[in-house]
Amino acid sequence: MNDENREVDFAALGNGRVTSAVLEGVHLRKYFPVRQFKLVGPRNVVHAVEDTSLALYPGRALALVGESGSGKTTVARILARLHEPTAGTILFHGEPEKSRSDLKDYRRHVQIVFQDPFSSLNAVHDVRYHLKRPLRIHGHAHTSAQEMEQVLALLNRVSLSPAEQFIQKYPHQLSGGQRQRVAIARALAARPEVLLADEPVSMLDVSIRLDMLNLLLRLKDEEQLALLFITHDIASARYFAEETLVMYAGQTVEGGPSEEVIQRPRHPYTQLLISAAPDPLRLGPDGKSTTTLPARGEIPSLINPPSGCRFHPWTHCFLYGNGGADLAVNAQDSTREKAREQKADDSSTAQDI
Ligand SMILES: Nc1ncnc2c1ncn2[C@@H]1O[C@H](COP(=O)(O)OP(=O)(O)O)[C@@H](O)[C@H]1O
Ligand SMILES: [Mg+2]
Repeated sequence: MNDENREVDFAALGNGRVTSAVLEGVHLRKYFPVRQFKLVGPRNVVHAVEDTSLALYPGRALALVGESGSGKTTVARILARLHEPTAGTILFHGEPEKSRSDLKDYRRHVQIVFQDPFSSLNAVHDVRYHLKRPLRIHGHAHTSAQEMEQVLALLNRVSLSPAEQFIQKYPHQLSGGQRQRVAIARALAARPEVLLADEPVSMLDVSIRLDMLNLLLRLKDEEQLALLFITHDIASARYFAEETLVMYAGQTVEGGPSEEVIQRPRHPYTQLLISAAPDPLRLGPDGKSTTTLPARGEIPSLINPPSGCRFHPWTHCFLYGNGGADLAVNAQDSTREKAREQKADDSSTAQDI
């Protein structure tokens, strides 16, 4: 492990912590081969995640924010060890996670909750089955009495009560919110230290989203869970996560304490996300948003991504204006060079941000 690199990443996520990270992804990359019919020539790959680093701490939430296709789920799946990274390291309590043999043990500590509560539960099994299985697999319950006691306790922890009424229900008898609560209870059954929540509310009714987010926050505090909260809604990151990391087209473009990232975004993509997100605290006296949404460019292809920062083909790249002159995160020298070249080519359309 390269200590130098870790220092850079901690700086990006805000420092001065007393606790150490439970789980870290260091310089993660994931390329997916593309199915193609040509027999000759280079194989195309999707550059889904490009050099992303993050750290999760007990009792704290990190929001991973970005629009659809930016690579958020791929990062979560790498951290859950459902995908093998193309490059990069996962550190669990500072130790590299390499061998496949201790996967069961890893899963006990690192659990994932998926976006879609309708496909994450097995239609032919009842709630009790879903919860007792991880209890057995991870050796937390040895008798049926223990099992039943813990299943009921889990349901109560996710506020599905009276718990006795839920144990025999099948997924089709539950609402979306109730299913997601069962999925969270199933993750908790393993007694994890890390919970990776991949857009846990985006497929739920707007009216129940806040309850679900509050549940996750309560569990994070009560169980000192290290929480990765994936969302495309940057406004919710401010309320639910101590830190925020913004992803764009597979790259992390900005990270730090949520309040700072949202109140004083440096990268133009973060500014774009914020201006597009409804947040009552940012409304002006006339009730209108205080920021305007700059014109958008095209999202780059992930098969042949532009070199350097994937935002640079946009005329709103921070290097055109003065908004990001001191941006520290992922601003590599090569990126600056490329953007300057681009600016020289296309200065007539450049705008300040
Ligand atoms: N298994 C896969 N095979 C090929 N491409 C994939 C696979 N999973 C994701 N991708 C691609 O990787 C990119 C990032 O996807 P994803 O991580 O799901 O983004 P997000 O969760 O931010 O919407 C997308 O272009 C997506 O099509
Ligand atoms: Mg996703």
